[in-house]
Amino acid sequence: MDSLTNTTAFVLEFDSKKSTITIGQKILATISSLIPYKQWDVIVAIVSDTVYTLHKEVVDHSLTLIDAIPINYNDTEQNKSYAYAEKYFNQLLEKQCTRNSLVMGIGGGVTTDFAGYVASAYMRGIDVVYVPTTLLAMVDASIGGKVAVNIKAGKNIVGHFHQPNYIIIDVNFLHTLPQSEWRCGMAEVVKHALIGDSSSLEILQNKEIQYGYINNSLYNCINSSVRFKASIVEKDEYEKNIRAILNYGHTVGHAIESLFEYTMSHGEAVAAGMLVESYISLKEGMPKADFDCIRDILSAYNLLPKISFDPRLIINHMMYDKKNIKGKIRFVLLESIGKPRIGCEVNDLLVMEALNFYLKMVSR
Ligand SMILES: NC(=O)c1ccc[n+]([C@@H]2O[C@H](COP(=O)([O-])OP(=O)(O)OC[C@H]3O[C@@H](n4cnc5c(N)ncnc54)[C@H](O)[C@@H]3O)[C@@H](O)[C@H]2O)c1
Ligand SMILES: [Zn+2]
Repeated sequence: MDSLTNTTAFVLEFDSKKSTITIGQKILATISSLIPYKQWDVIVAIVSDTVYTLHKEVVDHSLTLIDAIPINYNDTEQNKSYAYAEKYFNQLLEKQCTRNSLVMGIGGGVTTDFAGYVASAYMRGIDVVYVPTTLLAMVDASIGGKVAVNIKAGKNIVGHFHQPNYIIIDVNFLHTLPQSEWRCGMAEVVKHALIGDSSSLEILQNKEIQYGYINNSLYNCINSSVRFKASIVEKDEYEKNIRAILNYGHTVGHAIESLFEYTMSHGEAVAAGMLVESYISLKEGMPKADFDCIRDILSAYNLLPKISFDPRLIINHMMYDKKNIKGKIRFVLLESIGKPRIGCEVNDLLVMEALNFYLKMVSR
């Protein structure tokens, strides 16, 4: 099946502003009815080069409808930088953008983070609209208002909380997404399912979605995943407490990424991290049936990387993670699927055991 019947929209209420999220298929072409484009004096769209090449027709058509000026963006992680942002501030000035102008970001998470950062800093912050085009950007990066750029010392070090006014999730973009990128997004979909998104969990367990098929199950899964993340950030916009559950799988995941010097994708590292942290959860009392379910899902969607590492080095990397308080490693663990607990300290020996379990499992 290749065409969806549904379009859905909902509004998030933050202290700073409202964010409207619309999800559907081929909806970018109707953008003039989705955003009040006449309210802004100038609209500039920062468009990923790759997305523009693959989807030129719909992007050009949509930007013409709202009189937006496109600015191309070579969307590499290196170009998601503080230094590169200055070029875009200058371009916004050249295009005569004011405090009443709009920046759009059309692309994956690199592009939405970059466009969001540019919008958040230009003239102390102007409006921003996202059109996420990867699965990861749809369910994760574009939701929640975190915007950041990289500096030499590290990734996502400089940024703000800056909520987008509108997010337009057009699943039609997924037709051109490479499988490796699909798996990255799936890892975050699975994460949401395990920490509380029960509708997606059911779809994942029933194996209703598959790479390359834009069907109603995929649409329902994205819809549910987006709503789940949105509901968490709406409760805790500035990550003071509950929002931290979204770091499930990421304590180990970030350490793996960093040990492999970012040669492995974030999604694969997080998938491995989720399995390791589920093993720890199992030993801390999570039911065995839940552990088996998690392992089955991660395996069924082929998300677990076959890697080898020294577990002691992973522990060292976790010690230096910027999110750890005073050198103490903290995990998000599951009491059961759907019941995450934040700020858990775990004995190093158990972490070693969990990492060794992972190594044995993927070497089989
Ligand atoms: N702000 C947040 O809360 C948050 C959350 C998670 C991740 N992120 C950030 O998101 C970034 C990762 O996002 P990503 O995984 O989307 O990476 P990405 O933006 O690099 O996109 C991955 C690749 O897919 C290409 N692409 C994009 N859309 C496509 C399409 N429809 N068809 C074919 N190719 C397409 C891109 O050009 C790129 O080569 C990281 O920089 C990460 O830090 C931010
Ligand atoms: Zn992540």
